[in-house]
Amino acid sequence: MAHSAILNVMIKAAYRAGRSLKRDLGEVEHLQVSLKGPRNFVTAADRRAEEIVYEELAKARPDYGFLGEEGGARAGTDRSHRWIVDPLDGTTNFLHGIPHFAVSIALERDGAIVAGLTYNPANDDLFVAERGKGAFLNDRRIRVAARQRLAEAVVACGLPHYGRGDLVLGRHEIAAAQTHFAGLRRFGAASLDLAWVAAGRFDAYWERDLSPWDLAAGIILVREAGGFISDLDGGDAILTKGQIVAGNETMQRELIRLMQEASKQAANDPQREINQSPAKVAAPAPGGRRAT
Ligand code: IPD
Ligand code: CA
Ligand code: CA
Repeated sequence: MAHSAILNVMIKAAYRAGRSLKRDLGEVEHLQVSLKGPRNFVTAADRRAEEIVYEELAKARPDYGFLGEEGGARAGTDRSHRWIVDPLDGTTNFLHGIPHFAVSIALERDGAIVAGLTYNPANDDLFVAERGKGAFLNDRRIRVAARQRLAEAVVACGLPHYGRGDLVLGRHEIAAAQTHFAGLRRFGAASLDLAWVAAGRFDAYWERDLSPWDLAAGIILVREAGGFISDLDGGDAILTKGQIVAGNETMQRELIRLMQEASKQAANDPQREINQSPAKVAAPAPGGRRAT
């Protein structure tokens, strides 16, 4: 399938970073690992992959800006174009040898996401989308699932953990989902959660406390696959609030309703007081040498 010039640039960068990640996956126990926050790991593999993606994208479009999870923002002379990159989404999975992680690249033009790619090097799943041109998995057109009944739906989510997110709210949201859906999945890579909604593997997905690089490519993948996305209040502030609810029209609307109910219950939950001060404990890095 012929892709546009801009998608070809993104695919080349993702494949090169993917080869580097596959090499590092084989050496994961020797990887340098450090903590960016409670249970939030970064490895030499994340940084290496980001440098490779930056190199490839800057070679093809030297004027574009670049926002990467590990290296932060790099300004470009072309103010209307910016790459948004997560070089390794699912770092905790990667560190445990769980083959569910991805390179995620999006292109933003004048504040709107116009192209996106999410690539899992472990199984070679390549999800791509461009505005007005549809969404594809390995060159096959994909659409969100058409299921209308919640009781038949499999839904994905993120989970708060100590030091990150609201544990009490999380418990109420999970309980609401467990009561209404056929299945709940926490797979550990937000960009793949959104790509799987676009491919109809998950019927819906919601998560909070996300960063632009977790979300950007997934936004256009779900939209171009005929799906609906918003923040948890039903609004458009997905990247600024770091929240997303995705699915077909019915699933997305129902998930918002259930999460808003859960949020009201959590607000009145006496546990809230007790959980206000999560212990900020540094966890030992699994397997890898710890950066001192
Ligand atoms: C994380 C994953 C995870 C999500 C976290 C993200 P990372 O990204 O997407 O599924 O729950 O909020 O930070 O740190 O592995 O790139
Ligand atoms: Ca991420
Ligand atoms: Ca990452």
